[in-house]
Amino acid sequence: MTYAVTTENLTKRYGKRTVVESLDLRIPQGAVYGFLGPNGSGKSTTMKMLLSLIQPTNGEVRILGEPMTRSSRRQLLGSIGSLIESPPGYAHLTGAENMRLVQRLLGLKRQQIEYAVQAVRMQDQMAKKVREYSLGMKQRLGIAMALARQPELLILDEPTNGLDPAGIEEMRTLLRDLANNGVTIMVSSHLLGEIDKTATVLGIVSQGRMLFQGSRSELMAASTPDVIISCTRPEAAVSHLASFQAALTADGEVVVPGLDDKQTAGVVAALCGDGLGVFGVRRDEQSLEDVFMRLTAGGTL
Ligand SMILES: Nc1ncnc2c1ncn2[C@@H]1O[C@H](COP(=O)(O)OP(=O)(O)OP(=O)(O)O)[C@@H](O)[C@H]1O
Ligand SMILES: [Mg+2]
Repeated sequence: MTYAVTTENLTKRYGKRTVVESLDLRIPQGAVYGFLGPNGSGKSTTMKMLLSLIQPTNGEVRILGEPMTRSSRRQLLGSIGSLIESPPGYAHLTGAENMRLVQRLLGLKRQQIEYAVQAVRMQDQMAKKVREYSLGMKQRLGIAMALARQPELLILDEPTNGLDPAGIEEMRTLLRDLANNGVTIMVSSHLLGEIDKTATVLGIVSQGRMLFQGSRSELMAASTPDVIISCTRPEAAVSHLASFQAALTADGEVVVPGLDDKQTAGVVAALCGDGLGVFGVRRDEQSLEDVFMRLTAGGTL
């Protein structure tokens, strides 16, 4: 596997407080990497360290296999486009004027600017002043500015923040299009639902620590779903399984939270052994959102 970004033991401390702790990021080339975590979990801090905007307290960053050092930084940052926190751009200038500034600053060709503006579908908005833009348009202009240098890697911090459902859907489509054109994208959010359909790999952080990194299906497979048991004597089964926090549902079934395969087999064998007439066992369908909430609430998989 080739990685666009890897980190080893990436750590940031402010005084005695550790806000990013020993992060080992693995962002495969070509992936849309969904970087998820609740507010204050260290997402922006991590992204700023990848971009050398702040110095790590500890650890190493590699971009496209190259270690980020003082001497390699300039060249490596040239292959990264980014949008961190609020969208950039001068409000009193038009979209076109802002893009021209980017062109001049980075010494780009006109075609590169045109490509970026078209990629975010902002051609028709370029004559307008940025202060007249909707939030979605501002975000898209910000992405165009990040895209103009035709980066191999795009780092976007909460680009869906504050967008309405239509704006969020548009952002998803845009990210998918960019990924199809070979750009690796790291995108953060505190809401799983905003990026889970777009992301091909998920990294879930809470309180500065990585709780899970892998594909959606790996996340589901690693989780322990609730098991629902139908039997002839449900009340007796619930008291039998008190130590598992079993409960009776409104339909008279027994729900046992968070069991893996082995535990499920053990529970069923115990109930059968006691003659409680088990006639059905099934897994509760867990949405990815449930798994995310359970993880970030402090529990582990
Ligand atoms: N310059 C700083 N000095 C001290 N603490 C900081 C500094 N920058 C960030 N922090 C703290 O580090 C923690 C992580 O902040 P960060 O902005 O990385 O979180 P986040 O995951 O991006 O959150 P959000 O979803 O709200 O954007 C927070 O508790 C924040 O208060
Ligand atoms: Mg943030």
